[in-house]
Amino acid sequence: MDTDVLHLRASGVSVLLDLSDGRLPRIAHWGADLGSLSDEAAAALVSTGRGGFAFGGLDSAHAVSVLPEHSYGWLGTPGLEGSRAGRDHSTRFVVTDVARTPDGVEVTADDADAALRVRVDIELLASGLLRARATLTSLGGEPYEVSALAPMLPVPPVAAELLDFTGRWLRERTPQRTPFTVGTRLRESRAGKPGHDSAFLVAAGTPAFGFARGEVWMAHVAWSGNVRTLAERGRAGDSLIGGGELLLPGEVRLAAGESYASPWVYGAYGATGLDEASARVHRWLRARPEHPHRPRPVTVNTWEAVYFDHDHARLLALADAAAAVGAERFVLDDGWFRHRRADNAGLGDWHVDEGVYPDGLGFLADHVRGLGLEFGLWVEPEMINPDSDLARAHPEWIAQAGHGRLPLEERHQQVLDLTHADAYASIEERLHALVAELRPAYLKWDHNRVLLEAGSSATGRPIVREQTLAFYRLIDGLREAFPGLEIESCSGGGARIDLEVLGRTDRVWASDCNDPLERQSIQRWTQLLVPPEMIGAHVGPPAAHTTGRTASLGFRFATALFGHLGLEWDVTADDAVAARDEIAAWVALHKTLRPVLHGGTVVTTDLADDAYAVHGVVAEDLSEAVYSIAALRLPLTAEAGPVRLGGLDADASYEVGVLVPDAGGEAPGRALPAWWGRTVTLTGRALAVRGVQVPALPPEDAVLLRARRVGDR
Ligand code: DGJ
Repeated sequence: MDTDVLHLRASGVSVLLDLSDGRLPRIAHWGADLGSLSDEAAAALVSTGRGGFAFGGLDSAHAVSVLPEHSYGWLGTPGLEGSRAGRDHSTRFVVTDVARTPDGVEVTADDADAALRVRVDIELLASGLLRARATLTSLGGEPYEVSALAPMLPVPPVAAELLDFTGRWLRERTPQRTPFTVGTRLRESRAGKPGHDSAFLVAAGTPAFGFARGEVWMAHVAWSGNVRTLAERGRAGDSLIGGGELLLPGEVRLAAGESYASPWVYGAYGATGLDEASARVHRWLRARPEHPHRPRPVTVNTWEAVYFDHDHARLLALADAAAAVGAERFVLDDGWFRHRRADNAGLGDWHVDEGVYPDGLGFLADHVRGLGLEFGLWVEPEMINPDSDLARAHPEWIAQAGHGRLPLEERHQQVLDLTHADAYASIEERLHALVAELRPAYLKWDHNRVLLEAGSSATGRPIVREQTLAFYRLIDGLREAFPGLEIESCSGGGARIDLEVLGRTDRVWASDCNDPLERQSIQRWTQLLVPPEMIGAHVGPPAAHTTGRTASLGFRFATALFGHLGLEWDVTADDAVAARDEIAAWVALHKTLRPVLHGGTVVTTDLADDAYAVHGVVAEDLSEAVYSIAALRLPLTAEAGPVRLGGLDADASYEVGVLVPDAGGEAPGRALPAWWGRTVTLTGRALAVRGVQVPALPPEDAVLLRARRVGDR
């Protein structure tokens, strides 16, 4: 390629790359489409974006590439951190090759003095999603220890506010807002997984940006192990968002010829707020051939129904009841394998418990299949209970800190050291044997502890990176050996959700909290990255097991309905039997709505009073939409005021009505507006700019509305 400027365009996004002067690529613009640009115009734009030199600063203009280097005047966190025992700690890469790739560019650069080569890949995917990755190679000399390799994406100064997330078990993805001030906002995951408190992503936007408001740039580090997410505003004014893998000491030491690739950093731009940015992620995920395109089977999961009380007859009855309400998948959760009568023993002993299942599990699996349901199985392959045959036989397979010290236990368990070849081979053999024998259509893959002091028992060295790669290898191997096998990423709820794991799995378990009130928020934010069909969402019994809070069936279903729906409830129990027709009607309703819910565009309404939550999904062809209006708490005013319902064709007319399942009978609410209970016809524009008045909802209740296009525009 012999041009100094490259203009990438896709779906309303422009990325203008400055490739001049033999330096690593600088992103001169990432944001709204600039239109078609001549080479001269593109070059002019690049040059007018460059700074001069500042009084009281360096004597030359600084330049910040996607891998920022101090040698070009960047004073913040370098994109590459590492050294050969202190030497070669600062680089000055010079580009040796620029090659066009289908979606972008691949730039290779050397620092001959430091004996390092870096390749930077930048792609603008069809949905307008930007991604960047760096691969570092040591060209010779002493081993080069990499401490960080973190691509960064620039955002303009108007992006003065930040959003990222934190959380805990049962309350994943709780939003946090801060001003984007000068300095570094560094979020680290050191749990060997993104964690319940994961930053998840960082979004920088114009002040008070919302779902359909403001301009916003999101960055996400696609990695399932230790992660760093950064938002950094330098003293010269540059603002960057991005990050990389959090590497522990000694994890990556490159001998001559060896390479290390950073995770992909994804960048999603929204000219009109977060919904637009997240739609770019959803569209990209959905365009992959491996995306779960077939209807998401309504699931009954045994966990909160029976916990460890695995009684064969009871489970058969549960499967029958699951089929009766319209479930399509039956998942046998924790408790089926040897010694697993409680959560303190058995992990590692991946053989069907002969005491509980004297005739094996095949009978239950076949019974489930005979009912027309898929059979699913829970596993937690990366863990080991000290109280297990495996740990007794192979104490050296437990990850440890060295010096003979075992890490503190969590849920009575330790980490199985998958960098130990025999440990890896053993769990790989067990998983393949179980899937071959029981033929589950789905594995719920759990991971219930943090990786504290996770080192190799042989060397004491940190294993988090290798463990993460081994996890990927295990999944990849299973999917290759058993095409069609679906896998869920679960981690004590939603502690391992990222775009790399989503490339290998079919859904995530968003949270162990099935309380719809908490779920409204967890799902709303999880779907910033994860499309609804990949978010496991279950209806539990009236009183949520994890919070004790009681919610109506309608609120529970109206909340779970949008995701990959399931029931985590003993559907043979009295409360479920009494509601069986209603449950079946909701399940049937979900099935009819599934094509829209799981293929459409997520829309979220910004509201002044966050006691209400309003969101919906609009079919790709804009022919219909389903909206949920929920009252989470007692609102400040009795009514929400007309609620705007966005995303439809402005000029088309839509018939709007309240959605209730057939057996559900009445629409919820107390004081009904006059139009309630019948349908009204309004244009997409009227719905978006004025909206409709909804009933004064009691707290913890929701209504669903459906809009269907009538006639032509
Ligand atoms: C944690 C998961 O998130 C739950 O859904 C359940 O599978 C338990 N582990 C089982 O131990």
